Amino acid sequence: MAAQLVVALLALTSLSAASEPDCKELVKPLVLDSHSPIYGKWVLHVGSWDQSSLKNDLVSVNSSWVELSASSDSGVITIYWADRLNEDKCLQGVANATISGMTSHTTFNINGHTSYHDGKYYETCADCLLSEDTTLLPDSESKGRYLFLFTRTGSLEPSELETFKKQAECLKFLPEYHFSGSDLCPDDRETSASPPAENTENDQTDTEPAAK
Ligand SMILES: *[C@@H]1O[C@H](CO)[C@@H](O)[C@H](O)[C@H]1NC(C)=O
Ligand SMILES: *[C@@H]1O[C@H](CO)[C@@H](O)[C@H](O)[C@H]1NC(C)=O
Repeated sequence: MAAQLVVALLALTSLSAASEPDCKELVKPLVLDSHSPIYGKWVLHVGSWDQSSLKNDLVSVNSSWVELSASSDSGVITIYWADRLNEDKCLQGVANATISGMTSHTTFNINGHTSYHDGKYYETCADCLLSEDTTLLPDSESKGRYLFLFTRTGSLEPSELETFKKQAECLKFLPEYHFSGSDLCPDDRETSASPPAENTENDQTDTEPAAK
């Protein structure tokens, strides 16, 4: 009798599991350390939001890329970002993210405006970066969340997009998506790096000790 009951219960649980996305499997936060698969350059493919008031800001972004790199301080990640806005303006800048466990805390200064963000990263497809961004108001109250899927090239397989949509559902995002374009902002660091290089003659004596 007991064995039959167990079998019946198992059948019930597997039935209910089949109808819902398996969120425990789909949503696994990444512990952020130097081995995390988050480093390098990423191109935004799609974003979602959890409150309709956040939609306007995201749809004004035509394309976006970020570069995450480890800094000399193991608790700090450097984030270089570049957004192309719809009026064909490129905004880019750099920010430091402080890491604690599975969360990053970042302060962005954009044209004199300061904004605070908590980031979480989740397991995702190979060569993908899935990041949840909570925008915080100065009193650290949440303004809402975005979910961003970046890839190395900006493109994505249809099956990977389906997985993203299920992950977004598990994380309670709205079933609305903004797809990013592929016309990326050029990297300003590459062009602005040349003028100092021409001054090496003057600086030679200063820079030499650093090379040793
Ligand atoms: C980006 O801008 C171009 C030119 O204005 C426009 O054709 C394209 O639809 C935009 N793409 C996105 C994703 O907003
Ligand atoms: C990031 O941290 C480094 C090292 O502490 C500092 O030199 C740099 O100015 C910081 N950058 C920003 C944008 O805050």
